[in-house]
Amino acid sequence: MIGCVRDFFTYETTKSVVVKSSTIGIVNRVVQLLIIAYFVGWVFLHERAYQVRDTSIESTVITKVKGLGLYNNRIMDVADYVTPTQGASMFCILTKLINTEDQIQGSCAESEVAVANCTDDSDCTEGADAANGIMTGRCVEFDNSTKTCEIQGWCPAEIDTIKIEPMQEVENFTIFIKNSIRFPLFNFTKGTLLPSITQEEISTCKFNMSNIYCPIFKVGDILKFADQDFTKIANKGGVIGIKINWVCDLDRSAEECKPAFSFNRLDAISESNTVSKGYNFRFAKYYKSENGTEYRTLIKAFGIRFDIIVSGMARKFSVIPTLINVVTAFTTIGVGTVLCDIILLNFLKGGDKYKAIKFEEVSEIRGSLSNSNELYQGSSTQLSVQQLGKHSEDSGAYSIGQHG
Ligand SMILES: *[C@@H]1O[C@H](CO)[C@@H](O)[C@H](O)[C@H]1NC(C)=O
Repeated sequence: MIGCVRDFFTYETTKSVVVKSSTIGIVNRVVQLLIIAYFVGWVFLHERAYQVRDTSIESTVITKVKGLGLYNNRIMDVADYVTPTQGASMFCILTKLINTEDQIQGSCAESEVAVANCTDDSDCTEGADAANGIMTGRCVEFDNSTKTCEIQGWCPAEIDTIKIEPMQEVENFTIFIKNSIRFPLFNFTKGTLLPSITQEEISTCKFNMSNIYCPIFKVGDILKFADQDFTKIANKGGVIGIKINWVCDLDRSAEECKPAFSFNRLDAISESNTVSKGYNFRFAKYYKSENGTEYRTLIKAFGIRFDIIVSGMARKFSVIPTLINVVTAFTTIGVGTVLCDIILLNFLKGGDKYKAIKFEEVSEIRGSLSNSNELYQGSSTQLSVQQLGKHSEDSGAYSIGQHG
């Protein structure tokens, strides 16, 4: 019990032992070199631990589409084929439209034959949902050869299986993209539109990978960058991502903070899918005739949707991360000692002797020293110690205690 208490009230202090062994010396230096190389090469040069980062990029995108198309014997302008119209970072250029004109509320034959095929009234459940309306319970003639259930809803019902060509001119349409960003931590602002760009340049240039500051993108070029075939995507619809990535080292000049553009198809999964291929949606335009009946044109639209995704990160030198990482580096160099100790004490020849020198126990020394059996060699202090020659069980330390 007393022994335990006495053992608890002890103090450990470090003593340096210089080992003149070339094996352990080489291991020590190699380990230190590896640690230094890791910190210099990876932590400081590659990961740039001397800088603070700002990943909370603030960004806005303004878009404007230009071009005229000819479709269904009509000239289509921006207001006809871009939706939504606000010029946001996500918009859709309609490429193919299936119009069902002059629909009014009433009852008519269901157009979806697969859902509502019938031979007599008993095949049609009154009140059940069909594709385009609610069944009335009657079986009526759809065309000369087929009968379908009658529905109540917008009539005539849409037939969307007709084959029509997409609007070819979309390939030549241009999209103006203006992206402005800010890194709030450094209050740094930049944009894809350089202040030096002239009106003439904007009206003549086209974006390509070597002319990234031209804000005019041709739809055909974007599809090419994303490895997409225009006819295919215009027919079925699809989503194209335009990614703008800003990686800025603000220790360098602001000019070197450049956007990196990349283009890819975001709905790639729907290409390989047989159930829901592409992208389409429906909307309607409503009118009222002079006698007050409401009618509408239903439009099933296929289009290329563009999603502009902006991401970014800025970094700049800062004292605090530099200090923290320098201190970490120096502390980690000390880890090499642990490895060398393990090798020295366990795997090297004469490990026991090294143990004896490395671990030693000294009792409290009061006043004049008692008779010494042996003066500890190399020690400048007047410590008198006696070798007891006893290994302690757990640590393998060599115990040296005061005589008496
Ligand atoms: C697109 O523009 C090119 C060059 O101006 C022209 O040759 C081509 O016919 C246009 N394509 C369509 C579908 O109008």
